[in-house]
Amino acid sequence: MEKVQAGILGLGVSLPQKILTNKDLEKKVDTTDEWIRARTGIKERRIASPEETTLSLAEKAGREAMTNAGISAEELDLIVVATVTPDMVFPATACLLQDALNAPDAAAFDLEAGCSGFVYGLTLAAQFINNGSYKNILVIGAEVLSRITDWEDRNTCVLFGDGAGAAVMGPVDHGGFLGFEMGSDGGGGEFLKMPAGGGAIPPTIESVEQRLHYIKMDGNQVFKFAVKAMVRSAKKVAAKANIAIEDIDLFIPHQANIRIIESSAKRLRIPEEKVFMNLEKYGNTSAASIPIAFYEAWKEGRIDKGDRVLLVGFGAGLTWGSCIVEWTG
Ligand code: ACO
Repeated sequence: MEKVQAGILGLGVSLPQKILTNKDLEKKVDTTDEWIRARTGIKERRIASPEETTLSLAEKAGREAMTNAGISAEELDLIVVATVTPDMVFPATACLLQDALNAPDAAAFDLEAGCSGFVYGLTLAAQFINNGSYKNILVIGAEVLSRITDWEDRNTCVLFGDGAGAAVMGPVDHGGFLGFEMGSDGGGGEFLKMPAGGGAIPPTIESVEQRLHYIKMDGNQVFKFAVKAMVRSAKKVAAKANIAIEDIDLFIPHQANIRIIESSAKRLRIPEEKVFMNLEKYGNTSAASIPIAFYEAWKEGRIDKGDRVLLVGFGAGLTWGSCIVEWTG
């Protein structure tokens, strides 16, 4: 069977209107705008309104990606929603989205790989397209992290935000998805987790009182892991795709922390002008961060036809994932 080349046909985003600035956070916890900007690079983040959920953000981003791709809901074969904040444990947010979009022929499931989820999703979609089993696949990274953020914990509440980004993948003549590299280290899972709400610690009055339904993070451990994983994964994917790092036109890393990104870019010898960052506006939106950044880079004219874009994610699991996409325009 001949391999069908997979590429990105269209991108979309959805961001809540409400902006929460560092100054606003100064009123909630013992922190300062200066500390947050210096240690993370974040200035503000978006917060979902009570009516907004991962589903509603995913739907808006998905519809825009489909419009930009020129693909209707009837033409979708698969919907993948990467998220750590699904509307419910089950049914999957992707199934709720299949219904909301009215996509009769689409299989649908959620993918949980923390902030690497969107790269994992693109990689998965590319395999289905490569082997000819599916044609059009909607991959979405969507999160309402504000719902699992402990607004009394200054170590974490300054970092996260809400949003969604989407891509329609489909067959392309040449270019498109050129390679991937993914991995995990479950032994480090304890460094970034939401302990309760699953089968191990179901919700009880005690679990709520002990604040176990919020993100718990060992920031220093995650920081060290992040830089190592990003550098190693970027090198591996470049080698697999037979592309030199210096031939990468744009590096779009997971938008967690400016220091993680700068340190990784430096080790990879990627110059500043080839690194895309928008975390100052949105904070860390987990699985949504890479597709939102990808969309903004495209909208800002930072990506031309034929450009090779390197996407690198890392996150809860622990997980990491990289892929190289040649923009087909
Ligand atoms: N405001 C003021 N002071 C603070 C704040 C805050 N918001 N948060 C922590 N501090 C204090 C700490 O209490 C500590 O004080 P102490 O020395 O008196 O104990 C001091 O600042 C330094 O704390 P560190 O944790 O060493 O600060 P660091 O420079 O490492 O920055 C940060 C912390 C920003 C969390 C960093 O470790 C980081 O970005 N880690 C990676 C996090 C990340 O990327 N997580 C997401 C992964 S992706 C996903 O799946 C969601």
